[in-house]
Amino acid sequence: MDNLHQTLRIPVPFLKEEFNREKYSCSRHQQLDRQDISDEYYNWLQMLNLKLVHAETFYSIPDQHYTIHKDTHDLTDFPKINWVFGNSISTMNWYKILADNKLDVGKTGIDTGYVGYKSEDVELIHSVELPSPSLVQAGTVHNVTTKKDFRWSISTVYTHNDKLLTYSEMSKILKPFIS
Ligand SMILES: [Fe+2]
Repeated sequence: MDNLHQTLRIPVPFLKEEFNREKYSCSRHQQLDRQDISDEYYNWLQMLNLKLVHAETFYSIPDQHYTIHKDTHDLTDFPKINWVFGNSISTMNWYKILADNKLDVGKTGIDTGYVGYKSEDVELIHSVELPSPSLVQAGTVHNVTTKKDFRWSISTVYTHNDKLLTYSEMSKILKPFIS
């Protein structure tokens, strides 16, 4: 579904060549060190008038069905660019809320907002084996399931003229890079 997920072909490397993903294996959720991002990627963002405002890493173990959640307390539209590293296969699932009984509303260990939901209060609307990189809608309730491998992923958030974008605005800016 194009309003939840689109595959991107970004013409420059995201990370510096010397990037070491093991640095992000010590905990499930960390801030990405901005020094790990390549100069080419920053130049590409500048060309699109996008500013990176947040970058976080997730380290996932095999055969998990991670918590169903959305990445924000107040937004229902929250686009992110997401990368998955290594040869791990993971699935991202999006859900419709049937009963708005929030399981958990709070902050993650790195101070980002999230709202958790119970599986019985939501209904699956879309699943995709997540290509990398992808534009994803993180304002719709979602989760990730992993298969037999460990998984490293990085999620990034951008502003345009100091404003957060809607998924549709981000999709327009990234149109030449959507495959
Ligand atoms: Fe999320």
